[in-house]
Amino acid sequence: MDLSIKIGKLKLKNPVTVASGTFGYAEEFKDLVKLSDLGAIITKTITKEPRLGNATPRLAETASGMLNAIGLQNEGLDNFIKVKLPKLKKMGTKIIVSVSANSALEFIYCVRKLKDAGVEAVELNLSCPNIKYAKLKASNNEKARIFAQVADDTYTLVSAVAKKTDVVLIAKLSPNVTDITEIAIAAEKAGADALSLVNTFSAMAIDIDTCNPRLANVSGGLSGPAIKPIALKMVYDVFKAVRIPIIGMGGIMNADDAIEFMIAGATAISVGTANFVNPGVSMEVIAGIKSYCKKKKIENLKQIIGTVKT
Ligand SMILES: Cc1cc2nc3c(=O)[nH]c(=O)nc-3n(C[C@H](O)[C@H](O)[C@H](O)COP(=O)(O)O)c2cc1C
Repeated sequence: MDLSIKIGKLKLKNPVTVASGTFGYAEEFKDLVKLSDLGAIITKTITKEPRLGNATPRLAETASGMLNAIGLQNEGLDNFIKVKLPKLKKMGTKIIVSVSANSALEFIYCVRKLKDAGVEAVELNLSCPNIKYAKLKASNNEKARIFAQVADDTYTLVSAVAKKTDVVLIAKLSPNVTDITEIAIAAEKAGADALSLVNTFSAMAIDIDTCNPRLANVSGGLSGPAIKPIALKMVYDVFKAVRIPIIGMGGIMNADDAIEFMIAGATAISVGTANFVNPGVSMEVIAGIKSYCKKKKIENLKQIIGTVKT
């Protein structure tokens, strides 16, 4: 049985990855998860300069999910390259580094430095709902929006990076849009090798005793099982609209959820919020995919990707 898949020129031993921001830089999980068994580790998003993130509280549990407004807390690019990356490289699996930036030039700067440090693949986080965005075009009268909410901005950023580097480029898209296929097509045209979908859904919760929002940031991003059917539909829609591979995520709690995403069109999947509930869940997902394939006599995952009967 061959569980390997390809994301651009990056070959993963299996389709199970861990979602950015839900697995730190993996070190915290090394006693709980056989890291070398993962298809890939997608790191917490890093930025050029260190960031403290948003004020607390920045996590809240909701029905079948959680809200977060971490705000991309991280120690910055240089520290990542010096301290975290050498450890990640020894973990025996592929490393996909998630990066956020405020402009095309800053994205190019970060991705080039990562490439020089030996990174093969980056996920461009164009979709965090919990940070302030810059306006890419001064002439544009509209207020600044999440980059991946604007097809033009998505195209500008992805193509700028694609022209200047040859790392495997994965564009991470936002579900907070009217039609995600337009953004996916823009990213593909711009030269993305793959798409990650989806980031969290803009959402909020209120404490009825104090009338305060439960997050200091007022709103945050919803993740977990509550979003799974919506994320699944987005993967299904995007699969029909583009030819590049999709890393599907949103509420994957077990192997059955992961397989559902693959049948909808995902080539690989990311386990996110589930890691907080059960840190070893990614190993269970890999084992579950293997037994599903055995039961169904599937020898190659191509036999299930995008096979939903519609
Ligand atoms: C606490 C937390 C932090 C996150 N941080 C990031 C991040 O730094 N970068 C990013 O691209 N996505 C981040 N995400 C979004 C996840 O990677 C994922 O896209 C989303 O949570 C949907 O998957 P899930 O429902 O399985 O968690 C974060 C999610 C959570 C819950």
